[in-house]
Amino acid sequence: MPDRNLAARRLMAVTEEELQRIVLDIHDGPVQNLFAALSQLTILRSQISGTQSSTEECVAVINRTINLLTTSLGDIRDLLGTFRSPEFAKSGLSEIVEDIVIQHESISSGTVTLEMKDPLPESASLQVKIALCRILQESLSNVRRHSGVENATVKLWAEKGCLFLEISDQGRGFEPPLLNGPKATEKHEHIGLRGMRERAALVGGEFSVESHPGAGTQIRVEVPTYE
Ligand SMILES: Nc1ncnc2c1ncn2[C@@H]1O[C@H](COP(=O)(O)OP(=O)(O)O)[C@@H](O)[C@H]1O
Ligand SMILES: [Mg+2]
Repeated sequence: MPDRNLAARRLMAVTEEELQRIVLDIHDGPVQNLFAALSQLTILRSQISGTQSSTEECVAVINRTINLLTTSLGDIRDLLGTFRSPEFAKSGLSEIVEDIVIQHESISSGTVTLEMKDPLPESASLQVKIALCRILQESLSNVRRHSGVENATVKLWAEKGCLFLEISDQGRGFEPPLLNGPKATEKHEHIGLRGMRERAALVGGEFSVESHPGAGTQIRVEVPTYE
């Protein structure tokens, strides 16, 4: 159906805000680490060409360089993961969720407890899959970057014509900004949370953040499945 394809393409399209955020993420993460790796290699070159340095000193510099490059590769893979969209069309929701969880565990030292409750709808629409996938990726990246804990719990279940996705952690928590209404946050620091809320709204869903300092964080999305 051409209309549905058009709608899907619009949803796949990266918004201005998301693009700005990707540029920032690349600048703050991989670019900084690659610069640092480069300077480590420059130090190493002068150590090797001089006679003063011991083998241990050279190995230490090589290890720091390896760590910087490994982190950068992880960050870049993380960012690129967001754009593997064409695969969505073929895969089921539970498969996509599992993939994202596996990818998250492979690039971070964290673990994810995944609870998917059957029966899940046979085929969620492409739009719903994209929305839930982006929300899951952003939430897991927030756990990794902000929560201070290694473990996250992801739950996916269906109930009364709706799909529910919940991502929670027992970490440091925060005071969530207002995402709805005239006083909703427009702060640059909240692009991730705003993006998740917009993704949910685009598929007629509800999005909520529950968090308190010291009491963990819970992200929940509820999306109608029209089955
Ligand atoms: N799981 C979490 N645990 C603790 N703090 C969080 C968590 N998720 C979000 N936050 C807080 O909310 C802020 C906004 O998150 P977000 O909009 O995703 O932006 P970003 O991840 O770029 O900082 C974060 O900077 C952080 O302070
Ligand atoms: Mg974020």
